[in-house]
Amino acid sequence: MAKRVFNFNPGPSTLPLDVLKIVQEELLDYKGTGMSIMESSHRAAEFIEINDTAISLAREIFGLDEKYHVMFLTGGASTQFFQIPMNFLAGGKTGAYADTGTWSNKAIKEANIVGKAHVAFDGKAIGYKHIPNQNELNIPSDAAYLHITTNNTIKGTQYHYTPNTGKIPLIADMSSDIACRRLDYTKFTMFYAGSQKNLGPAGTTLVCMHDDLLQKSSDAIPTILNYKTQAAEKSLYNTPPCFAIYVVKLVFEWIKKQGGLAGIEKNNIAKKNAIYGMMDKYPDYFKGTVEKESRSWMNLTMRLPSEDLEKKFIAESKAVGFIGLKGHRSVGGVRVSLYNAMSLEGAEKLVQFMEDFKKKN
Ligand SMILES: Cc1ncc(COP(=O)(O)O)c(C=O)c1O
Repeated sequence: MAKRVFNFNPGPSTLPLDVLKIVQEELLDYKGTGMSIMESSHRAAEFIEINDTAISLAREIFGLDEKYHVMFLTGGASTQFFQIPMNFLAGGKTGAYADTGTWSNKAIKEANIVGKAHVAFDGKAIGYKHIPNQNELNIPSDAAYLHITTNNTIKGTQYHYTPNTGKIPLIADMSSDIACRRLDYTKFTMFYAGSQKNLGPAGTTLVCMHDDLLQKSSDAIPTILNYKTQAAEKSLYNTPPCFAIYVVKLVFEWIKKQGGLAGIEKNNIAKKNAIYGMMDKYPDYFKGTVEKESRSWMNLTMRLPSEDLEKKFIAESKAVGFIGLKGHRSVGGVRVSLYNAMSLEGAEKLVQFMEDFKKKN
């Protein structure tokens, strides 16, 4: 048996063991082809089948009809930060952005290089501790879209409702909470996520986009950056990240085996309740860094009474097999990332560790 730790890394992060075992089993000889899927042509029947299945599983899991295009792109979620404005802000249009943390702030910066960004909510002034309510969003009526970051990986906040934007397209960066719960995904005209947290290994970005928005893509930009190109070619305009797409397909199959998003949600609620429960038991010791209503299910952030205790907590937790608990340098403290593949057992063991640590220190 391989030694496996409880991996709380913020991304790339833990993957389902069952998925890793299938990868291992199929690595040298993918379904009798005598080669690894990594060595296969992206035009070969076996890869086309993987790609088509991944697309249809995405539609099934997220409840999308054929009007949604499913693409597996490259360049990370960070590429979407400029690809979105390049496609939809041509001709002097403005994109509205809710600034709820480091990543939305980066998206705004890129939008301002390519076009014009309007800040519909500015969370910076309040230390990014709060997710805006519907009435705190100031969306110009002529905005080309509203862009939100559904989960703020670094700051530890998450939307627990979907903003109503009327006729204005809603675009979401879901990199760190995609598929973590049931959600009406059709309220989003477009959503995207880097694969390396809830979907698979690093290497691809899932982009789901309604055809109405796709048709607005600019044709005055390089071919590969025009969403119409990859939508028409099912992401096979050029060589796609075949191996990452293959693992994402396996993760989608794993999600279905967990009971789909309902099953995943149930497990995620139990996990986050366990950790937040311990924080609420000792609020002066495990001090949450964000307001309760905005707490993330995926990245739970806290400060301990001193930096020395935080260092000790991280070192001692690592020594007993809890990896990746150090908070981002901009927040400090401890960050517990509870992505889909983290087991309830992992969260419960960490809760016990927290209790013991508090007693001893
Ligand atoms: C919410 C969010 N958006 C965007 C990114 C950037 O993703 P990538 O590294 O795939 O460009 C991250 C990375 O952690 C993230 O958490």
